[in-house]
Amino acid sequence: MKRFAVIGHPVAHSRSPLIHARFAEDTGLALQYGTLDIAPEALAEQVPTLFAAGWDGFNVTLPHKAAVAALCTEVTPRAALAGAVNTLIRGPAGWTGDNTDGAGLLTDLEVLGIIVRDRRVLVLGAGGAARGILGPLLQAGPAELVVSNRNPWKPEALADAFRSVGPLVPRTHLALKGDQYDLVINATSAGHGGGIPRLPDGLLATGAEAYDLSYGVAHAPFADWAVAAGARRVHDGLGMLIEQAAESFERWHGIRPPTAGLRAAWGSADRR
Ligand code: ATR
Repeated sequence: MKRFAVIGHPVAHSRSPLIHARFAEDTGLALQYGTLDIAPEALAEQVPTLFAAGWDGFNVTLPHKAAVAALCTEVTPRAALAGAVNTLIRGPAGWTGDNTDGAGLLTDLEVLGIIVRDRRVLVLGAGGAARGILGPLLQAGPAELVVSNRNPWKPEALADAFRSVGPLVPRTHLALKGDQYDLVINATSAGHGGGIPRLPDGLLATGAEAYDLSYGVAHAPFADWAVAAGARRVHDGLGMLIEQAAESFERWHGIRPPTAGLRAAWGSADRR
């Protein structure tokens, strides 16, 4: 039986085994999918060892997404652009690294009926999570894509890194004063500490949607902010989690698993 796992540290909390078990059931494929806790200092040694041991593929989660890219024999263009790998696919001589996060977000937005084309889009945060979604967002043709961050240098660096894909406007949160957006995506990790970035008032245009890459308790602060700021709908990142897993599943098995059942079962949050 083919063997897969999600690699992280910690990783016991990961929902990926549940998601892939459901996909396997729904597509009639027999596979194993577990969790592997690998400490950062052991990653460089473990990744080739797992290849030699015959494993078929991995998802990669925090804190390894950037480091694992250097351990692949090749990376896909979208993973190179994201500067991170979340999926390892077995090749003839080593791992191919891919990144399905951005595609997962775009699929989720489509399912939710959230339009990016010709809309003013704001991404909050300029770390690894933001970087993973900027390429697909730019390719979706927004009227404007602004990246704002607490540390002012990181958005500038991202604008340089993505110049070949499209125009990215770097801002600090403070400099957003007076702007209005149709879609605000929270890609900061502030929710894990129970907070959100300090933002000016009036950021949401009439009918604007708010989307959070976080889910569970980490989603609550941004959801509260978005509701108070007048968002038409507020979404957590569970749909993206499911859809990025579906994209990885398709890369490994050549079959697109249905996601509607899992989406309904988990009921990704809409606070409005
Ligand atoms: P991830 O992989 O989750 O993106 P990261 O690369 O460490 O993690 O990036 C975390 C992001 O959340 C950064 O944009 C960070 O802002 P800074 O670059 O200014 O540090 C942002 N962030 C985390 N906690 C925050 C807080 N309390 N307020 C505002 N931004 C925060």
